[in-house]
Amino acid sequence: MRPIDPGLLPDGAVIGSEDRLSIAGCQALELATEFGTPLFVYDEDHLRARCREAVAGFGDGVAYAAKAFLCTAMARLAHEEGMQLDVATGGELRMALLADVPPDRLILHGNNKSIAELRLGLEVGVGRIVIDSFDEMDRIEGLVAEGLPPPTVLIRVNPGIDAHTHEYLRTGAVDSKFGFGLAAGAAAQAVERASRSPAMHFKGVHAHIGSQVFETSFFERAVSTLGPFVGLVEAEELSIGGGLGVAYVDGESAPTITEWAATVRAACSAAGIEARLLAEPGRSIVAAAAVTLYTVGTIKELAGVRTYVAVDGGMSDNPRPVLYGSGYEAFLPRAVTAERPRMVRIVGKHCESGDVIIRNGAVPADLEVGDVLCTPVTGAYGHAMGSNYNMVRRPPVVFVRDGKARVVVRRETYEDLFARDEGVPEPEF
Ligand SMILES: Cc1ncc(COP(=O)(O)O)c(C=O)c1O
Repeated sequence: MRPIDPGLLPDGAVIGSEDRLSIAGCQALELATEFGTPLFVYDEDHLRARCREAVAGFGDGVAYAAKAFLCTAMARLAHEEGMQLDVATGGELRMALLADVPPDRLILHGNNKSIAELRLGLEVGVGRIVIDSFDEMDRIEGLVAEGLPPPTVLIRVNPGIDAHTHEYLRTGAVDSKFGFGLAAGAAAQAVERASRSPAMHFKGVHAHIGSQVFETSFFERAVSTLGPFVGLVEAEELSIGGGLGVAYVDGESAPTITEWAATVRAACSAAGIEARLLAEPGRSIVAAAAVTLYTVGTIKELAGVRTYVAVDGGMSDNPRPVLYGSGYEAFLPRAVTAERPRMVRIVGKHCESGDVIIRNGAVPADLEVGDVLCTPVTGAYGHAMGSNYNMVRRPPVVFVRDGKARVVVRRETYEDLFARDEGVPEPEF
């Protein structure tokens, strides 16, 4: 197998002397020593460049979908680079506020927003609420009746587009739990009610067809399907959601954000849509910006069957392979351009046979216990979906830039793990 494809690495990755990996001027092996493993390393300039690309492509209304990767540093960065933020729960909303993102730059999502989440959204004055159900409208009307200010809303429409992606990543097919069906007439009813209700200002239409979508033709179809409706309801805004795919493994390629934006814009023109175009990229902003560094702890050869290479993390820092069967690549930062002829299964340290990071991973022949192993394109939905399964402590997040590394999320401590247990003594170990 060929060496790792440099196209999967962050923009600031350099293969330096002795074939070693550095990112934004920081040696990967030194980062692993200094901060320990597992470790998320994000190239800050890569993040900033993708945010700028999104703003250039879609204009001021474009929002970063915080669910892909959120911490206060990321919220601040996206805001500094001119993006709004899409937040999907009270927790994401609070974190964005903690990062001093102005509330009017926040778009509140969620298919089952609680009264408390909506109350906070109205109290702080979020820029938009994307309404997902009639029950949610009842709740907003109740809160406004209590004296809270009416929010500006978009109606989430389900256009009935079956984007070719994993079932769990599809959100725009007719049987999705998200949004109001277009064909069924629910979307029209929702807009009618929102327009009539004194408890909300109807501003436009939102549609998110799914995630990890590689073919821009699906977005074109969504736009052409929505076009007549957008005109009919006189929507001032149309958000096309997020969902642009990214390459995770050798041989994959995805459109750039610029290409995606140009395609969607052209589709809007062709459909005669005059509404202001908005979008919410998540993965395409952050996925390729980061790598995860692990340490190899065990290599188990099952004669004639397979070789297991176990690292010190797993499904707790990257649940995507378990959830979606997603593929990744791995390589050694000490020998970046080494051929990878050895096929192994890279697994984590959790008590699950399904705790697999790479089912069939190509690695260099001399990979050994103690090596730092790197998996690229781990910036999206890894930290965000991480867990404490088996009481593991979640890894830190380090941003690197201009030869300097800063911890933006520290490693979890054992005290953090026990902090919610009532009636236990201070741990002494
Ligand atoms: C409403 C909405 N917007 C944006 C996104 C971001 O999608 P992606 O990270 O694939 O760009 C999602 C992802 O689930 C979403 O549900």
